[in-house]
Amino acid sequence: MIYPIVLYGDPVLKKLAEDIPEGTDIKELVADMFETMYAASGVGLAAPQIGKSIRLFVIDDTPMMENEEEGVKKAFINPEIIEEDGDDWAFEEGCLSIPGIRADVDRPEILRIRYYDEDWNLHEEEYDDIHARVIQHEYDHIEGILFTDHISALKRRLIKGKLANISKGKVDADYRVRIPSKR
Ligand code: NI
Repeated sequence: MIYPIVLYGDPVLKKLAEDIPEGTDIKELVADMFETMYAASGVGLAAPQIGKSIRLFVIDDTPMMENEEEGVKKAFINPEIIEEDGDDWAFEEGCLSIPGIRADVDRPEILRIRYYDEDWNLHEEEYDDIHARVIQHEYDHIEGILFTDHISALKRRLIKGKLANISKGKVDADYRVRIPSKR
């Protein structure tokens, strides 16, 4: 099932998401989130973006890799970033909830994360470079943070009008969206 993607301006995107009770059957939801992400040509999707304030996100950054086999395709359930390390680096980010806007965001290059997979096995892993970037962006979503919260006040002023339009549903997206003011 493909969910509509919640747009900027919806309060669910600003909420701290809740842990999922351990053992909950979430396989179908995880499959639906991958389906929704692929339908929108995204490399990551967090549960708040389909209107669910729970700590779950999926990523598949294969399209961003030079070699396909380097791509990471995973679901992260009740994740916890334990540590971030390395130098901050800038990378231009976008977001399915904020169509048509991209901006450079500084983030640390390395992270350690602990999370459950969809079979409730616990993992602890280290990621760097683009993998870390995609995870940090999606992790922010379950903390109620958007990439536009990281950009300079000047840049934010420049895109203020565009953000207002998105929250009114004036967007050009080639996937199904949920307009905040029409809830
Ligand atoms: Ni996003």
